[in-house]
Amino acid sequence: MKRRSIAIDGPSGAGKSTLAKRLAQELGFVYVDTGAIYRTVGLAARRRGIDPADGEAVAEMLPRLAIGMGYGEDGLQHMFLDGEDVTQAIRENEISACASKVAALPAVRAFLLEMQRKTARENDVIMDGRDIGTVVLPQADVKIYLTAAAEARAERRYRELLERGQRADLNQVLREVVERDRRDMDREVSPLRKAEDAVLADTTGLDLEESFRLLLGLVRERLDV
Ligand code: DC
Repeated sequence: MKRRSIAIDGPSGAGKSTLAKRLAQELGFVYVDTGAIYRTVGLAARRRGIDPADGEAVAEMLPRLAIGMGYGEDGLQHMFLDGEDVTQAIRENEISACASKVAALPAVRAFLLEMQRKTARENDVIMDGRDIGTVVLPQADVKIYLTAAAEARAERRYRELLERGQRADLNQVLREVVERDRRDMDREVSPLRKAEDAVLADTTGLDLEESFRLLLGLVRERLDV
């Protein structure tokens, strides 16, 4: 049977992972958080003392990396690095910048491409990332470009960090959001951009429930689920 796929791309903090996870539950699809995979490579570089922007050094590290992705009893995606569950560790704030830097390297993107495509061949997926609709799954059944104003995204990220007991400063978080957008959109390989056939969903001013209804409606208009 042909597998179905829903691609959700957009800048950080637009609510992609929260919404995609809920959509996956609602539709019985597997949720794939591709940012987590880049984060795992970022964490690996950091742990080995490698500059995440050093293309040569990172490329040299890749063949020796054991990166695994699995689904726990909780149904959630877990990431493994050299056998260790790093699902929590990759969420540290400083790993965001490392992830964004390694994600700009062509060797890293090529290395992770097949892992993502294989998951989509074997499951009905909702995959979120930056280049899912443009590069990873250009034939996706539904493509959504999810965005919101930078200030709204920074505010959400800020609240998330506080809830996790981490210290944060809103202006600093906004600067980081803007910087990460710039890096993700301006890079040469697979930059973040809306696929021509993606539908634009802007969640500025919408709460989670409203955003969820919006996305569910967009999916159901396009796919019989
Ligand atoms: O979605 P996230 O914030 O966890 O992603 C971490 C970084 O990985 C982000 O800066 C962009 C990058 N990324 C990417 O380049 N391509 C993807 N498909 C997913 C994430």
